[in-house]
Amino acid sequence: MKTVVSGIRPTGNLHLGNYYGALRNFLAMQEEHNCYFFVADWHSLTTHPDPKLLVANVLNVLSEYLACGINPEKATLYLQSDVPEIAELYLLMNMQAYLGELEKTVSFKEKARQNPNNVNAGLLTYPVLMATDILIHNADYVPVGKDQEQHLEMTRNYAGRFNNRYGVNFFKQPTAFISSENLVKIPGLDGSGKMGKSEGNAIYLVDDPKTIEKKVKGALTDNGPEGENSQKPDCIANLFTLLKIVSAPEVVAHYEELWNTGQSKWYGSLKKQLAEDIIITTAPIREKINDIKNNTDYLNKITKIGAEKARESAAKTLKEVRTIMGFRNL
Ligand code: TRP
Repeated sequence: MKTVVSGIRPTGNLHLGNYYGALRNFLAMQEEHNCYFFVADWHSLTTHPDPKLLVANVLNVLSEYLACGINPEKATLYLQSDVPEIAELYLLMNMQAYLGELEKTVSFKEKARQNPNNVNAGLLTYPVLMATDILIHNADYVPVGKDQEQHLEMTRNYAGRFNNRYGVNFFKQPTAFISSENLVKIPGLDGSGKMGKSEGNAIYLVDDPKTIEKKVKGALTDNGPEGENSQKPDCIANLFTLLKIVSAPEVVAHYEELWNTGQSKWYGSLKKQLAEDIIITTAPIREKINDIKNNTDYLNKITKIGAEKARESAAKTLKEVRTIMGFRNL
């Protein structure tokens, strides 16, 4: 059994891409490993969210992940800000992080460019806080997207540097578990690559049926097949990929047939069917999300238990780190 850590930023909602992607990884891992999943609410402070919005976003992610199957009896689910040990280890790990490296981080440079008036120190040391999240439980695996690979590399550097500096073999070298490499890629509705929040092409689990219909109806299509058995352009291939995920095999076969026989004027029907099947798939999840969101007693109970479990593991690591670094009885 390995230790797994992953953080979820409390921004935005889960879309179909997350649901069939990263989330599947989490669900598989919670069956097999000792998992720590947490809401990275301290991380979200770099953009100075309105406190009311922050509460709402934390409530959202918790409800969505629970509704999608994160099981608090299997995985430890907690809020980062409920674990003060992380703040202390973050202070200590900051001494392993050099300014030059932090300034060269891709995510930092990007954010600094997008928001030149808010280049705060928290943004600069974001990778140190993330490394701390991982090292505080001495994780083996970190399921993340490809965009987080550099942060993982930095985590390994800090862990190694700590071990070298103090002549110990204390921190493990955590491995990224890149979700996109193992899972179906969910395309967007705009003919481009994958479904994403920033791409503006996503269908969210909380979208109501009308919204889903509208989005699917607006999906990019071409002028129809050019002859029999022709190659599908990306926009059409994408619709088929989605159809394969949510619809019955006969339905997929029916539209494949229409494409392969080179017929025209059936995209409207395909979209209608696709929207319907997405609605059938997401409706029960949406209902569950809302039930959980309204049950704050339940959420408070779960996060309290989660924080207790996370703090126990965190305190153990921190105690050893303190001793190694020279904070001991005089
Ligand atoms: N930086 C991650 C993201 O943007 C979120 C995160 C914070 C995280 N701490 C983490 C992920 C620790 C994995 C492990 O998605």
